[in-house]
Amino acid sequence: MSIAAVLGAQWGDEGKGKIVSHFAKKFDACVRFQGGPNAEHTIYLSGKPYKLRMIPSGIFNTNKAIIGNGVFINPRIVLDEIEILESDFPDIAEKILFSKKCHIILSSHIEEDINSAYGKFGTTKMGMGPSVADKVSRNGFRLGDIYNEEKMNSLSSEDREICERFYSKFKNNIIESDIVIRGLLDSNMRIIAEGAQGALLDVDHGDYPQVTSTNTTIGAVLTGLGVGVQDVESVYLITSIIMTKVGSGIPNPITGELQEYFWSNIKRIDKTTNTTMNFGWLDINLLMKSIRINRPTGIILTRLDVLSGLKEVEYTVQRDGINVQEKFPGWEEDITTIRNQNNLPTNLINFLIQIQKQVGVPIVGISVGVNDDDYIEINL
Ligand code: IMO
Ligand code: MG
Repeated sequence: MSIAAVLGAQWGDEGKGKIVSHFAKKFDACVRFQGGPNAEHTIYLSGKPYKLRMIPSGIFNTNKAIIGNGVFINPRIVLDEIEILESDFPDIAEKILFSKKCHIILSSHIEEDINSAYGKFGTTKMGMGPSVADKVSRNGFRLGDIYNEEKMNSLSSEDREICERFYSKFKNNIIESDIVIRGLLDSNMRIIAEGAQGALLDVDHGDYPQVTSTNTTIGAVLTGLGVGVQDVESVYLITSIIMTKVGSGIPNPITGELQEYFWSNIKRIDKTTNTTMNFGWLDINLLMKSIRINRPTGIILTRLDVLSGLKEVEYTVQRDGINVQEKFPGWEEDITTIRNQNNLPTNLINFLIQIQKQVGVPIVGISVGVNDDDYIEINL
């Protein structure tokens, strides 16, 4: 048993990438198991941001980064990301491995996502919905098909060209990932599995139809890697203390001055693409739903640093079927340089204790800034 799964509890953008990158130091490999380039994980290393849509966030701190069979690959985005990373980390391409079974997102999928009904939910326009549809209707093009001349001939010239470029760069990195992963587990290697999106975007359990097209919850770890339930040792649910959602759907959206404050103080939001982002205080009821589905061993709360300086902090909880805001005294201190729970403001600790009491799952860590190491282990 040595897979630790890192999953989003809400609508994505909870800060999974940063937590994975930080945790990866203690792991031998980092893997992705679902989603595709609709993910956008920003890793700050010594203050410099690296945006990753396809490459696993743990790549900087582990020896291997594996794209598992459940992931949808856009080869052009992989090549572009690798090129950017190679300028700072020249040998990085050697670390990355791709499952032969991954489905490829073709240019027709992206066109369809942009032009068709998929667009009406405000997707990331990365071609996810149409490529998942082709996968389940058994019309998909998989990475392993790159070896098949007849299948390659069926592609448009644009797709064929990019697949050939991908092959010439990565021909030694295309693997039977389930066999490789089994080998790692059997030799007691530790694997961190990086989720994309969040539980409330899960195609089965989320707010259907305003969801993504893959499963984002714990079951996807097993099917997207080809491992068994006994291989998973821990499950961390990454939960933003300030919920964010692209478009509408947050039950109690924050408005006015506080909305402005969060918009300018949350650093990981790409302000050019997320213009319709809404905010809400942590919703305990929704978190309980994510807990029910994922059965996490621990919760990691992110963006605590953004609350410093507020007079009051809140969460939303249902009492007698009605959503109410419960308010607690805030704290003044900047907490970004604190690394030990004992040095945290008492009001912050009290807030965490209240949340833990509500959800009944231990809070095991908090994120206090954008950098990888802005993280504090918690034991309440
Ligand atoms: P990370 O991994 C936030 C949202 C889109 C849209 C819906 C469907 O960075 O947390 P899709 O392109 O998947 O068909 O879009 O899902 N969405 C995300 N929102 N973070 C993400 O990923 C997301 N991936 C998809 O905004 O509402
Ligand atoms: Mg994101």
